[in-house]
Amino acid sequence: MPKNMRRKVIAGNWKMNMLPNEAIEFISRLENEVKDTKNEVILCVPYIDLFYSLLAVQKTNIHVGAQNVFYEESGAYTGEISPKMLKCINVEYVIIGHSERRQYFAETDETVNLKVKASLKEELKPIVCVGESLEQKETGKTENVITTQTEKALKDLTGEDVRNTIIAYEPIWAIGTGKVASANDANESIKKIRGKIKELYGEDVAEDVIILYGGSVKPENAKELFSMSDIDGALVGGASLKVDSFSKIVNFDK
Ligand code: 13P
Repeated sequence: MPKNMRRKVIAGNWKMNMLPNEAIEFISRLENEVKDTKNEVILCVPYIDLFYSLLAVQKTNIHVGAQNVFYEESGAYTGEISPKMLKCINVEYVIIGHSERRQYFAETDETVNLKVKASLKEELKPIVCVGESLEQKETGKTENVITTQTEKALKDLTGEDVRNTIIAYEPIWAIGTGKVASANDANESIKKIRGKIKELYGEDVAEDVIILYGGSVKPENAKELFSMSDIDGALVGGASLKVDSFSKIVNFDK
């Protein structure tokens, strides 16, 4: 099987930004800028923007994702949203286990795994975030941290499930700091994640699974990052809030 036939995926994570009118306006401007790309374009928007964004992306090549989901189907869980709820309005993707959720909202490897399984059951594609802190990096724990997070997130999944899952390697020290991992370091970490998937699910699955880099991705560094053997695109925070910078990242190969 030829290696690295994977598509490139550029996903924006708006985090807690953008009101519905801003989302609609953003999409109407982005649409034209990305209409000719072969790369997959995803916008992960706040819950309040989902419905408006889904209407706005009709007849475009832009996909919509959420930024979190709960793992139960329904019930007395005030304030939570289930995979079935997201799926029924046609949301395609959901970010699970972002480091900000692990840090501020007590997300654990176990809840990440429950959310991944519940999402896949509804055919909602998870974008699972893994990544080491600065302290873990400086004490040589990166490989152990990211491969363990990956293994725990994917626990009990089939190979087919894993193919429908995107992994985002986001070193915490690179998020929102302007400090991007070097293309080589990011590629090496992503290779370790792919290696773990190979160990668990075999080479074919490992070669198919999309693994993104995230952390201070900008138009200026995107091309170098995306030219690496194992980096299949990016999860973009700050630079996804402006049409100009986000579309330049999507169009890195133009
Ligand atoms: P920045 O691109 O702002 O560093 O954020 C990365 C991120 O957390 C994407 O999920």
